[in-house]
Amino acid sequence: MEISLGVWVALVVGGHLGCPFLGEMLTFLWYFKILRRPDEFINAKRAKYGDGVGMYRTHLFGTPSIITCLPAVNKFIFQSEEAFSLNWPNVDLVGSSSLVAVQGSSHARLRSYVINVISKPNALRRIAGLVQPRMVAAFESWALKGRIKAYDESKKVTVENIGKLFVSLEPGPLLDTIDKFIEGVVKGFRAHPFNVPGSAYHSALQCRRQLEAIFRVELEKKRNRKEAVKTDLMDGLMQIKDDEGDKLSDKEVIDNIVSLVIGGYTSTALSTMWAIYYLAKYPNVLQKLREENMIISQNKNGDFITSDDISKMKYTNKVVEETIRLANIAAFVFRSVTKEVEYKGYIIPKNWTILVWIRYIHTNSENFDDPMCFNPDRWNNPAKPGTYQVFGGGPRICAGNMLVRLQLAIFLHHLSVGYKWKLLNPDADMMYLPHPRPVDNVEITFSKI
Ligand code: HEM
Repeated sequence: MEISLGVWVALVVGGHLGCPFLGEMLTFLWYFKILRRPDEFINAKRAKYGDGVGMYRTHLFGTPSIITCLPAVNKFIFQSEEAFSLNWPNVDLVGSSSLVAVQGSSHARLRSYVINVISKPNALRRIAGLVQPRMVAAFESWALKGRIKAYDESKKVTVENIGKLFVSLEPGPLLDTIDKFIEGVVKGFRAHPFNVPGSAYHSALQCRRQLEAIFRVELEKKRNRKEAVKTDLMDGLMQIKDDEGDKLSDKEVIDNIVSLVIGGYTSTALSTMWAIYYLAKYPNVLQKLREENMIISQNKNGDFITSDDISKMKYTNKVVEETIRLANIAAFVFRSVTKEVEYKGYIIPKNWTILVWIRYIHTNSENFDDPMCFNPDRWNNPAKPGTYQVFGGGPRICAGNMLVRLQLAIFLHHLSVGYKWKLLNPDADMMYLPHPRPVDNVEITFSKI
């Protein structure tokens, strides 16, 4: 008897597709928005269907899907790029030749360019120098205000640094416009991709076009310069050559600048916001952080810290890792199944979606002791193999992971040596969509030590 793949999966992988059209979307929203306990969504499945290999079938975001939530199966998905492709439904928003939109050898080629300009030691050394003046100025201005919302302010300093790093822009009206357009594009990622006037997606596309136009003007200015100087990431992407001596096209440069700007904006702002939040909640951690950074600061005699200093700041780096682990900025990542695949006897059907539920790995006590406690000392030992997937894995592992770690360490340095702060709403509720954050955007009093 022939058996359809859908039925076959129904027989072996635990889970259910929920009601017609909506699937399990209401249950998902119940756990994420109403109960505000997102991890219970997976715990409920584990309790009902058992662990198996950590795969559950469901129907979410409009498609039949398989959730994966254990380290081994997540790793399998991340590493099998041929069968599970990153497939943005809204490729027009990310740009057809951006890193996140291309596949296979084109992806590997483009990725080597991008990694060169944002992750190599030389790049990080330059970036460390470039981002500090804006961070220091931001802290000064926060102290003058005395009371701020950390997320809102973190977004401002992040966009200033993005402007400087990516296209050498100083704060001013153009950067404010860019800020507005970035926010517009980011909103479009959460919207249904219906390109009709008045829709969020339509307006996000308009914002993307405006961003593209702004960056094209900057690109032309650079091209018309007399000498080729390398001062920012756009210069880097314009000048770099691969082994065959080929350069990126203008479209590739612009699409990648836009996607890096967007990839770096919310993630960096949320990481710094969470650092402020956790340090306020764990004064003993702040104390140890401050001690390490005071010593570095005294040795620097007023100079900025360098990426070499940061590599020696052992406790600070643990605080960075712990912040990123617990913040769980990316709860899950999506893959499209491009061909039928078998994993440990289970069939994963073609054309289904995979939701790699990375958040669950970091909040599960099987992987981290007392997982919801902010404890940088847990990093005295490396995490158990495969249990730290905050940046994804395999060929698509986050291209900005070194950049965000560096920026967070610098942020922690200036914050801990110079300032004190207090949460105004220490028991504020959490929201988890589209990203986790306290509902008050971390409102604090802020002053010099
Ligand atoms: C704590 C902060 C961050 C987190 C948690 C994070 C998380 C992730 C994750 C989970 C992925 C994998 C997505 C997938 O496999 O589908 C990813 C990819 C990516 N991230 Fe990040 N990210 C962060 C910061 C950044 C920053 C600062 C940038 C850039 C400035 C960036 C740029 C990218 C890019 C370009 C990719 C796509 C890589 C590729 O497809 O080859 N990210 N990020």
